[in-house]
Amino acid sequence: MINKIAVIGAGVIGSGWVVRFLAHNKKVIVYDTDPKLKKKVILEVKRAWPFVKKLFNKNKLNLKNFSYVTDIKNALKNADFIQECAPENYKLKTKLMEVIGKYSKSNAIISSSSSGLLPSKIYSKCKNPSRAIIAHPFNPVYMLPGVEIVPGKKTSNKTLNKAKKFYESISMNPIMLKKELPGFLSDRLQEALWREALHIVNEGYASTKDLDRAIEDGPGMRWSLMGTFLTFHLAGGNAGMKHMLKQFGPALKLPWTKLKAPKLSKELSNRVISGTKKQAKGKSVATIAKIRDEYLLNLQKMRKKYEVKIRK
Ligand SMILES: NC(=O)c1ccc[n+]([C@@H]2O[C@H](COP(=O)([O-])OP(=O)(O)OC[C@H]3O[C@@H](n4cnc5c(N)ncnc54)[C@H](O)[C@@H]3O)[C@@H](O)[C@H]2O)c1
Repeated sequence: MINKIAVIGAGVIGSGWVVRFLAHNKKVIVYDTDPKLKKKVILEVKRAWPFVKKLFNKNKLNLKNFSYVTDIKNALKNADFIQECAPENYKLKTKLMEVIGKYSKSNAIISSSSSGLLPSKIYSKCKNPSRAIIAHPFNPVYMLPGVEIVPGKKTSNKTLNKAKKFYESISMNPIMLKKELPGFLSDRLQEALWREALHIVNEGYASTKDLDRAIEDGPGMRWSLMGTFLTFHLAGGNAGMKHMLKQFGPALKLPWTKLKAPKLSKELSNRVISGTKKQAKGKSVATIAKIRDEYLLNLQKMRKKYEVKIRK
């Protein structure tokens, strides 16, 4: 039974995991190289709690299950599960995983939140890498159910099964990758879209706002219920994907999209920064995050009614 969890790194993602773990009655012990983050994490937990409470039908927040330590060994020694959330950097994570492997219980699962690094590389110096995985969540971790589970070359099936059950037990839908690849699934898809959007801004065809609208008012509305494949299956009429491929397959040969990323010049960066600043209309990131969380809460409640009809 996984009960005690060490969260290593308490930034955006680490704090998000803390909220989700606490909401599922886990004991959470947090370590960050910055000893002053404790207050910030508690504030974030309190800020997110009203949404989490409604999403998971919880009563009250039990901060007795939360502790913050300034020595990594104290975080690791009794943990059944370790969720690493330090910066995305091969050198840093490889070194950190060596320390985590050394000071954690030999049967504790080690899970990195990395967005795209290869597990076999970051666990190359870790003791017993058979119990190590990547579990890539989405921001905000306490609201979104998706998590990509990526095995390294040495990860055991026992670890994968245990991790899958654990993430399901905290109301997540694990996506099990068959083998490791850089960028995993979701970020590869997002990156393709992002690259194309940057080219369009760079070449002056549309503003950041127009590009966002092209997602928000169209594909984005469908995507929260159905991904690309099922959406395109419906685009083929009664014959489904077969007709869709026949009709739109040839368009794949048209050079619509650019595979290479544009140069992130000063001018392009300025366009993207000023464009999104204009879209925010003076609202702070925290204000927009609050609106997003409320929206995600209501969307998930509504989606439940429809997803069972498609997925089951
Ligand atoms: N931000 C996102 O949207 C997002 C989404 C999914 C996954 N991730 C992944 O989560 C991880 C963390 O990203 P983030 O956005 O929370 O970063 P962040 O910069 O907000 O937080 C990183 C934290 O790690 C701490 N830290 C630095 N070195 C450390 C060390 N050696 N030991 C312990 N703590 C250390 C920092 O003080 C900081 O508080 C990354 O691997 C990232 O790719 C991020």
